[in-house]
Parts: sequence; C-alpha cells; structure tokens
Amino acid sequence: MSILVTGGTGYIGSHTVVELQNAGFEAIIIDNLSNSNPEVLNRIEAITGKRPKFYEADIRDKEALKKIFAENPDIESCIHFAGLKAVGESVSKPLEYYNNNIYGTLCLVEAMRDAGVKNIVFSSSATIYGDPAFIPITEKCPKGVCTNPYGWTKSMLEQILSDVTVADKEWNVILLRYFNPIGAHKSGTMGENPSGIPNNLMPYITQVAVGKRDHLNVFGNDYDTHDGTGVRDYIHVVDLAIGHVKALNKIKENCGLKIYNLGTGHGYSVLDIVKAFEEASGVKIPYEITPRRPGDIATCYADASLAKKELGWEAQYGIKEMCEDSWRWQKNNPEGY
Ligand code: NAD
Ligand code: WQD
Repeated sequence: MSILVTGGTGYIGSHTVVELQNAGFEAIIIDNLSNSNPEVLNRIEAITGKRPKFYEADIRDKEALKKIFAENPDIESCIHFAGLKAVGESVSKPLEYYNNNIYGTLCLVEAMRDAGVKNIVFSSSATIYGDPAFIPITEKCPKGVCTNPYGWTKSMLEQILSDVTVADKEWNVILLRYFNPIGAHKSGTMGENPSGIPNNLMPYITQVAVGKRDHLNVFGNDYDTHDGTGVRDYIHVVDLAIGHVKALNKIKENCGLKIYNLGTGHGYSVLDIVKAFEEASGVKIPYEITPRRPGDIATCYADASLAKKELGWEAQYGIKEMCEDSWRWQKNNPEGY
C-alpha cells in the first residue's frame, strides 16, 4: 500500500518516511525542497535499505499532483506535512503563508478527491489552542485565538478538513496536534536542519553547543511557572513519526473525523531543557535572560490519553533521549545536510 507524504523530506516528514518503510508501507514523497535538502533521501535509504519514490514538486502545482496520482494508482492515503512553519516570518509574510498552507492544502485535497483518495492525516499543532483554557490540554479544550498567521493557517485548515468530512462521508481525516517536536533519528544521520538563525529552542541550544552561536537567549523568566521560564511538552520526533503510522491504522477502520494530541503529557521549562541537554551532552550552555518573546504563552502541555486509548500510541522516549539524539545529530552534522 502506498502513502503519499507531502513535505516528506522535511524534519518530521523524513522521520515518518523511515517509520512507514519500517512498518511495510511504500512512501511516495512530494516536496518542493523550499525548506529541505534532497540528501535526506540518501539518509533514508541508508537507514531503511529502501529509497522512497520522490517527486520534486509544489503541492500548488495541480498538474503535478494529477500526474502523481495517475502514475501511482495504489496510493491509499496521504500524510500532509508540506507547509511553511516559521511563526515570526508568518507575521511579516501573511499572504505567503496563507497561499502556501491554505491554497496548497486546497489543491492537494481537490486532487485527492479527483483521484478517489479520501484518507488524510494532517499536521496540526498545539498552537491552535492559543493560550489554552486549561492544562493539561485535552482535545476538548476549545480552539483559541492564535497570535500569528501560521497558527491561523493550522486552525483554518482543521476547519476546512472537518467540513470536507461533513459533506462526504467517504472521507477519513485525522488531525494530529503536535506539541513540541525535538530529537533526531538514533543513527545521528537525520535531524532538524533549520536554515538561518533557529527560531525554536532545541536547535538553538544545539547550535550553541557546537559553537555556532555563543549563548542562548532565554525569553523571559517572569512567567507563572516553577522557575519563571516557559513550559512546553517536548516530544521525540521518532515517537511523533510512529504516531502517524498508528493514525494510518485507524484510518483503515473508516474512522471519519478524528483529532488527537501527540505529546508526552510532561511539561519542561526552558531551564529544565538547558540542564537536561548539559547532562546529556556534557557541554555547558551559556545563557542570558532577555525579555519575553511576543506571542509566547507560559505553559502548554498535553493530555495525550486519547491517542493512547484510540490509537494505541504513547510516547516512548524521555527528555534524556531527546537531548542525546538532538546532540548526536548536531555534532555529527554541524552544517546540517
Ligand atoms: P519542515 O519545514 O522541515 O518540513 C516541511 C516540508 O514541506 C519541507 O521539506 C518543505 O520543503 C516542504 N514544503 C513547504 N511548502 C511546500 C509546498 N508548497 N509544496 C511542497 N512542499 C512544500 O517542517 P516540519 O517541522 O517537518 O513540519 C512538518 C509539518 O508539521 C508542517 O506542516 C508544520 O507546520 C507542522 N508542525 C510542525 C511543528 C514543529 O515544531 N516542527 C509543530 C507542529 C506542527
Ligand atoms: C519553546 C520555549 C520560548 C527559543 C513553536 C510554535 C508552535 C509549534 C512548535 C509549529 C518557549 C523558549 C525559544 C529561544 C527561548 N510549531 N525559547 N529561547 O514557541 O513553544 O512553539 O514551535 O506548529 O506553533 O510556536 O517552541 O521551541 O520556539 O520555544 O527561551 O531561543 O523556549 O520562549 O518558552 P514554541 P519554541
């Protein structure tokens, strides 16, 4: 059975392709390489012994999508990662974000419908909860006010995909709300490869550790948390990848619309992560406290019990392995791919 993986050369997509192939699925990737490197394909092949089929194309290219579905009539489902994801950039380039993420997804879903492929797993985000109404966050927590266009694209796409299932009962849609993915493949050959200055905490820390940046800026220490710094639910990217394989199994049950949080259920502060990383790597991370980053919230962590109950999925890796694996990847690949 073939699975179309949009954004499959990206950070989460590449780890998911490995787990799909390990589980016996054929993965077919479409990616425009706007935020990834084709070297990933060699790394996937080295890990799994199999090179996934790859189309370098944009999901907004309707002809390209039509051709992919025509050439691969065995595609049963799509896992849809392709999208732009830089929160700060989305504030300065809202039209680009709405065009890429919303229009791109509309093109994809139309092409899927035309090809009779009506199963999709979508990369959503805990960001759709805004400043969450309660903690730990269950899927029943109301969607909130997003603080940036990126977040709104996820929130709107959740609505669009939900509406599709109302109109046509043949569709199965699983919305996976990721918390904070970090970590890398155990081999140290695949991981997160940000271009420019990293926006997210873990890649920033690993770049300090490898000597590319001289210190970490900790964005605020006056939040209402145990040490004043922001608390998040960090999840190992391989656990996240396995969550997608479990979601495909759920789709086989003709599940209709389903929504799952993918997190560990544990919250760690910025300083907890710095300490855990120092222990895992043996490298000291100098840091300075700076003002809060606009749009940040104090605390965000999941209640992930629904995914356990309905998908049989639960995160296996703890913070130590997340730090060790992030570090192994960065140390072995200081310049990324
Ligand atoms: P990533 O940037 O590494 O991967 C996204 C991939 O999509 C890239 O390879 C990029 O080249 C490709 N892409 C972008 N626009 C495209 C287009 N129009 N056509 C074809 N390919 C396109 O990001 P990631 O961290 O792997 O995230 C994957 C998905 O998960 C994204 O949708 C992201 O919004 C979502 N997500 C990520 C996080 C996170 O913290 N990393 C958290 C929640 C949700
Ligand atoms: C984590 C904590 C920061 C960098 C973002 C998106 C979210 C989702 C995941 C896609 C916060 C602090 C960070 C730094 C710091 N992505 N921090 N110094 O903001 O929870 O979530 O990525 O959907 O939508 O918003 O993740 O890694 O940026 O920050 O102090 O240099 O680390 O303030 O408390 P965030 P993050």
